[in-house]
Amino acid sequence: MGKIKITGDGHPLLDGKVQISGAKNAVLPAITASLLTSEKIRLENIPLVKDVYTILTLMKGLGAEYTLDKNSLSIQVKRILSQEASYELVQAMRASILVLGPLLARKGKAIVALPGGCAIGSRPIDLHIQGLEKLGASIQLEHGYIRAEASKLQGTEIEFERKTVGGTENLLMAACLAKGETVLKNCSLEPEISNLCEFLVKMGAQIEGIGEETIRVKGSDPLHGATHEIIPDRIEAGTFLVAGALTYGNLTLTHIQPQHLLTIIEKLKYSGVKIEKLNNRSLRVQGAPKIKSQDITTSPYPGFPTDMQAQFTVLMTQAEGTSIITETIFNRRFSHINELLRLGANIEVSGDKAIVKGKTLLSGAETRATDLRASASLVLAGLIAQGETIINDVEHLDRGYEKLEAKLKTLGAQIERVST
Ligand code: EPU
Repeated sequence: MGKIKITGDGHPLLDGKVQISGAKNAVLPAITASLLTSEKIRLENIPLVKDVYTILTLMKGLGAEYTLDKNSLSIQVKRILSQEASYELVQAMRASILVLGPLLARKGKAIVALPGGCAIGSRPIDLHIQGLEKLGASIQLEHGYIRAEASKLQGTEIEFERKTVGGTENLLMAACLAKGETVLKNCSLEPEISNLCEFLVKMGAQIEGIGEETIRVKGSDPLHGATHEIIPDRIEAGTFLVAGALTYGNLTLTHIQPQHLLTIIEKLKYSGVKIEKLNNRSLRVQGAPKIKSQDITTSPYPGFPTDMQAQFTVLMTQAEGTSIITETIFNRRFSHINELLRLGANIEVSGDKAIVKGKTLLSGAETRATDLRASASLVLAGLIAQGETIINDVEHLDRGYEKLEAKLKTLGAQIERVST
């Protein structure tokens, strides 16, 4: 297990330019969408993160051939060689569930391990299953696996009871090869879903309502090869915006889409952080001498993202006053808080709320990363803590941030990976 060591002097000034990578949560469904055609797919702006390697291992087992050259991926699934996503891979990465819809649609059969809970909550997949059943699949849950079968999926109307990003993606992909029209209602609005829809359209799918809650898909079997660019990672960008704000820095973020960051920008500005749009692909962030406290409630896009909750919690430890952070998406996403307490933060958790009292001086300590965004929040806290902060189990960080410590180092942080 790797560790990261950060040596803070309490107030380092991060300064410079940072290039944001492609979005982890957009590339994973795009890779599984390549199961929908036997032709070649080319994806650009691939983030080189562990989850990408995990999904590629899974895809190889299903019959994919691929080459990854820098940030470009060529992938082709001429024939499906297996319809099974094993427990081992699904445990390593829940997003493996995204092969369920496309495998079933193309091959008429899919066997995928049930993901179960994870570090941030119970995370059921009932909405994926109900939707596929409505498309005509017969689904059995046995021995910890989902066994789905359908000779041909049939278009229908599906209304999601609750917003689900992965559920929307799985159903969209399945609907592309279904017979007739599928109407998906109460779809999630995350930019990663629009990015997937645009890719499916390039593959020949007929989709109306991209970026809206109701999406209509006319099945068009077969789909064909296409080239597509993955959108920038709005959560990586948000993490760097908070890094700039916390360190009283002066950072320019490039290769981003500022319109995907509106809620995050609005919250940062409310706290006094200066953010300036330089052009359609870049922003400058400058930290405020005094950070103003505020309450945050996570909600589906365009609301405040749960994937930025942990990072904002750290920012609020540096704000004057009390902030109430309410987590509405996942039921156990406060594991970073015990670690932040070790650094001297004053935070109490009560149900779905974290009550943060600031401003507290943080002091370096040994901590443990528990999930991806919790790890990012510990890195942010380490940047401003006095002395040395050690973050153990940083593999979580590698799942979703490309070269985070190298990028921070270029900006002036004293951060390094140490082997154990
Ligand atoms: N839910 C159900 N039933 C379902 C599906 C979801 O009850 O069938 C619940 C979940 O338990 C959760 C809520 O609905 O409480 C939202 O889950 P959703 O399906 O939207 O999340 P996801 O697809 O599993 C994606 C991202 C997460 C991100 C969430 C919310 C990917 C690969 N993952 O997960 O990203 O937090 O949407 O925005 O896209 C991360 O990057 O750190 C991360 C966890």
